[in-house]
Amino acid sequence: MKLSIQSKLPDDVTSIFAVMAKICNDAHAINLGQGFPNFDCADGLKDKIEEYLRAGKNQYCAMPGLFALREVLANKVNAAYDSSVNPEAEITISAGATQAISNIITAFVKPKDEVIILEPAYDSYKPSIELCGGVVVPYILKAPEFLVDWDAFEECISDKTRLIIINTPHNPIGKTLKQHDMEALQELVQGKNIIVLSDEVYEHLIYDKQVHQSILRFPKLYEQAIAVYSFGKTFHSTGWKLGYSIAPDYITKEIRKVHQWNVFSVNSFLQYALADYMSDPEPYLGLGKFYQEKRDFFNEAMKDSKLRPLACEGTYFQLFDYSELSDEDDLEMATRLTREYGVASIPVSPFYSDRSQGKVLRFCFAKTEDLLSQAAEKLSGI
Ligand SMILES: Cc1ncc(COP(=O)(O)O)c(C=O)c1O
Repeated sequence: MKLSIQSKLPDDVTSIFAVMAKICNDAHAINLGQGFPNFDCADGLKDKIEEYLRAGKNQYCAMPGLFALREVLANKVNAAYDSSVNPEAEITISAGATQAISNIITAFVKPKDEVIILEPAYDSYKPSIELCGGVVVPYILKAPEFLVDWDAFEECISDKTRLIIINTPHNPIGKTLKQHDMEALQELVQGKNIIVLSDEVYEHLIYDKQVHQSILRFPKLYEQAIAVYSFGKTFHSTGWKLGYSIAPDYITKEIRKVHQWNVFSVNSFLQYALADYMSDPEPYLGLGKFYQEKRDFFNEAMKDSKLRPLACEGTYFQLFDYSELSDEDDLEMATRLTREYGVASIPVSPFYSDRSQGKVLRFCFAKTEDLLSQAAEKLSGI
């Protein structure tokens, strides 16, 4: 006999990445859908991993993460963001940024608490909030500019607001928050019992001489904030699922209470290898240039297609507007481009709670130039 299950996630939604991956595989199309590089991480890093794996660094790590790695990370962010993060008390290594986000939401969101998210939003936020009985309050970013009007944003805040999640550079829209945005946010939350979670997994993928406005740059705001990062994005290794959070000690204490019971500690030999490899900042400081060249290469190659690129300030995602081409909704359009033109992308509407549209599709340019050329050639036939 099957039990009657009261699902904690009753919306039986299959992730749009799984949906598009299947359509892509069935059509033997080029996959510019899900965000992952089609090239490997650096040989130097792989050598370090092998070294520590063979040296027997294969047992449980310290609960908050290997101290040597946390030390390297504190030095890295303090140099980049002029902060004074303490590695012992403020950094926690997690199983990807996704687990850090889940830890944070679990630690702070109680039933009926409200969480404001900027939509379109990375798709793990909403289910994580709902699993805790929290209520998602979306602030809608509208194409093509996707700007935050902070006066309008203020109207989303209530006495039930517990958490605000921002994401810069932003997936899927490829835009960044500017210094004035962070200052406006700082002013809005000051004196209120609200935590800000700043998802900064694309911190190094930022273009055209912009400066990444990490929450760590704003000491007053950081007093009530958490930054989240991912090694997967920085070292072309999304499959490792290794990330970390940085928060003041009294907030980190609560995050670790959750972390120790849902995972305790994460992969040890990767942490040893990264602590060693990251003593040289060159590999990650060059990332902005590396991906900006890919963005420019792809957009140049796409010039002959009738898809119109929107501004991409960061991340490895380029949005294209297809409104002049078709009235189809974005899932239909993405499906048709995959089947008829052989290139898979991701429709943006599933990143909105109400599936609202824009006629825009997201293409991932973390690919070799050869693959980007082939994709652009196929799309130029539209
Ligand atoms: C905005 C954003 N946050 C978090 C993550 C998750 O990172 P990780 O793979 O380290 O869990 C992603 C991955 O795509 C992302 O785009």
